[in-house]
Amino acid sequence: MSIDAANAVSDDPFERLLAQYTEMARLAGALAHEIKNPLSTIRLNMELLAEDLEELQSPTQHRALRRVEVMKRECQRLQDLLDEFLNFAKVRRLNLQPTDLNAEINDILDFFAPEAQAAGVEIVRYLDADLPRVLLDSESFRSALINLLLNAKQAMPEGGQLVVRTIATADTVILHLIDSGVGIDDHTAAHMFEAFYSTKPGGSGLGLPITAKIIEAHGGRIHVQSDVGHGTQFTIELPIPARLGGR
Ligand SMILES: Nc1ncnc2c1ncn2[C@@H]1O[C@H](COP(=O)(O)OP(=O)(O)OP(=O)(O)O)[C@@H](O)[C@H]1O
Ligand SMILES: [Mg+2]
Repeated sequence: MSIDAANAVSDDPFERLLAQYTEMARLAGALAHEIKNPLSTIRLNMELLAEDLEELQSPTQHRALRRVEVMKRECQRLQDLLDEFLNFAKVRRLNLQPTDLNAEINDILDFFAPEAQAAGVEIVRYLDADLPRVLLDSESFRSALINLLLNAKQAMPEGGQLVVRTIATADTVILHLIDSGVGIDDHTAAHMFEAFYSTKPGGSGLGLPITAKIIEAHGGRIHVQSDVGHGTQFTIELPIPARLGGR
């Protein structure tokens, strides 16, 4: 099974659909903004109410306090979801700089290492020493990679191995992330790049669509191959610009 994130929108007949999608995304972004403001007011009032209730001691007030805490948590979850959604919907200009991808990866993996270790995930790095530089927006590439690392970790609840490999071809730099996790069935593979598709309780389903959008904004491609029960390989291909040594 092999799925390419770009396939869904790259064909010409979809151009009009794409324009409609962009407009929908703009409207959804505006709607998310509208919801965020009253939501933070609700949360603030909830906090004030909790403070008042904390001062009182009767069992009824304790119960009310617990309910307020639940509502506060749900408000926070909605706020986080809206933030992620806005992050997804916003069209940001990338600040592309010639970058050593290996150095960037090492940095991100060092940051992720304690979390991986706590989850029993061994990270193995095979980084091609002769990698030409690529144009990267460090900040957004970082969030793309973190999304993939978190997914890999979550796919290995009993721990496992994550191989991170870089290879150069004549005109692209390739990054493989290979986990030994639960794998991806065909239905999930067909939908996982869609916004809000998640198989996890509490998952927003925005991690992969954000990641794909970031990679595509770099002129790159992302695709996935998986073997259910054995693991998953994500592949990211980034172009090597001619002035940095590409063809
Ligand atoms: N490495 C992986 N192994 C197995 N399944 C995966 C992997 N990566 C992604 N998936 C599947 O793709 C789905 C969508 O992933 P995505 O990152 O978009 O959302 P999520 O992880 O469910 O939620 P969020 O990223 O917001 O926490 C996941 O719910 C999971 O089923
Ligand atoms: Mg995710």
